This record gives sequence, structure tokens and C-alpha cells, in this order.
Amino acid sequence: MSSFEEDVLIGLSESPRWLPCKYLYDAKGSALFEKICDTEDYYVTRADLEIHRHQIAEVAQLIGSNAHLIEFGSGSGIKTELLISALLQPRAYTPIEISQTALDASVDQLRKRFQHLDVHPLQADYTEDIDPHHLHLDPVARRRVIYFPGSTIGNFTRDQASTFLKRMGKMAGDDGLIFIGVDLIKPINKLLRAYDDSAGITAEFNLNLLQRLRNELNADIDCDAFAHESRFNRALQRVEMHLVAQSPTSIGLGEQHFEFSKGESIHTESSHKYSIAGFQDLARESGLNPVRYWLDSQAQFSMHCLEPGQ
Ligand code: AVJ
Repeated sequence: MSSFEEDVLIGLSESPRWLPCKYLYDAKGSALFEKICDTEDYYVTRADLEIHRHQIAEVAQLIGSNAHLIEFGSGSGIKTELLISALLQPRAYTPIEISQTALDASVDQLRKRFQHLDVHPLQADYTEDIDPHHLHLDPVARRRVIYFPGSTIGNFTRDQASTFLKRMGKMAGDDGLIFIGVDLIKPINKLLRAYDDSAGITAEFNLNLLQRLRNELNADIDCDAFAHESRFNRALQRVEMHLVAQSPTSIGLGEQHFEFSKGESIHTESSHKYSIAGFQDLARESGLNPVRYWLDSQAQFSMHCLEPGQ
């Protein structure tokens, strides 16, 4: 049995039902996410890019020369190019990404553009522990810089995010720096619209997961019986995406049968939102000191610079 199928069986058996958000990002899902980034309602990417455009010189100054840049994920080509071109004599670049296809695409372009940069892509799941030997640590690099834009940290619960930040601190090492994008708390209607855009692309993105169940796992499922919904979870300060049964329906998978009553949902993704102080507290709890942060002009999004504490 594939791990996809195992995870689906586990998630659908639990109450409330859920599916791991990583399965949203197959080739079609990743392409749909790129389309979401272009919608008016999804402010996140635009705000993140604005911070890069306006503040990158200061970021580069903090980093200094001869850095080894390590990026978690590789879906952010434009931002990475802005950062690398602002850096003074960067030594090496290591994108860590689970999808080999995404990795190849981003690396080809960067190698062409920055011919003096050592590019060492690493195909791996960055949410798991990574053996430092796989990072091609550059002996001449003055410091390691971990770069994680886009607010993907929002997919983690607070505890998971803390574990992840601790691991980042270890990877950065004593003289290292961490740059991380974090989406901010804002009025709920604005948040809900960002995760349920009026063009219906987020809905298509979420429903694609059910099509994967049908196409890849041969699930017996009526995809039309479910509708996309974005919800704000006040207690946990997060937007949740759900697939909600519009009428009584069922999903058959192998020997198993999962009955859904009308209104019952499958939780597919969470995007946690932070205040500046809230995120800085989380960083400190995780052994990292806030160095400084930047906002876009509408204060919708933040980029934080953190350093491992003593
Ligand atoms: C890719 C995790 C940053 O949570 O804002 C966007 C994913 N899901 N719309 C986010 C997403 C639905 C996005 N991240």
C-alpha cells in the first residue's frame, strides 16, 4: 500500500476527518497554487514580493559577503533571484525540496543566471532531520543563511513550528542567520477571501485532492458531492481549508467505506497567522533571537531575521 493511501485511510478514519496538506501539491495542485498567487484575493505572495523588492538591500547588508544560502522549498524563483542578486559575492546555494521536478526547474534557471555560484540542490523533505553532510557545507563560506519565504511555516501548528525553528537554528550554526516569511493576523473577512478567491481557483485546488483519491487510489467517490470552504479557527488563530459534504455521501477505498452526513467535512490545510510579537515569542521559545523584521506597505505580511541564541 502506498503511503498516500495509508495516510488517507488514517485521516478519513479520524474524527474530525483530515488529510495531510502535502498531498495538495501534485503537479496540478502546484500549478493551481501558482494561479492562486496571481489572484487579487490572495494578498500573501504580492506582499512578500513587495518586501523583497523594497528591503532586499538591507537584508543583503545584514548577511554580508561569502554566504552559503540554504532555501527550504524551491517554488519561489523570483524572490530567490532578487535575494541572490543583492548579495555580495555569495558562495553557494542549496535549495532543499521534495519534488525533483520543481528542484530541477529552479536550479537550471539559477545556474544560468549566476554562473559563479555553487548550486547544490538537495532532494529531501525539509520537515525531517537533514544530515549536515548532505548540505555540501562550503568551508570558505563565512556564514550559513537559511531562507524560508512565503509563509509555509503557517502550515505547521505552533508546536510543529517550534520544533522546525529549533532545527533551523541548529542548521544555521552559531554565526548563521535565518530569514523567514510569516503572514500576519488581519480582519477575518480578508483572510477568508484569500483562501476562497472569487475566481474559484482555491476551490479547484482543494477539490483536486479528491480527484487524486479517485485517479490514483481508485477511490469510489463522488467529487461533486463536496464543496470547498475556508474557515477561521479563532482559538488556534488559523485559516482552515475544508471539503464539506453537500449531501449524504460516501468514499470507498479498498475494503473501507467512509460515510459522510450532510455538512461533514474533511480538513485539508491550515494556515496559521501571527502577530509580530507572537512570532517573536515563538522564535525565542525555540532558541532564536529576533534581529529585526520588515513589513510590506499595508502591514499584511512580515519577514523576520532571526539568529541562534546562546
Ligand atoms: C503555500 C502554505 C504558503 O497557506 O497561504 C494558499 C498555501 N493554500 N491557498 C498558504 C495555500 C490555499 C499557502 N502556502
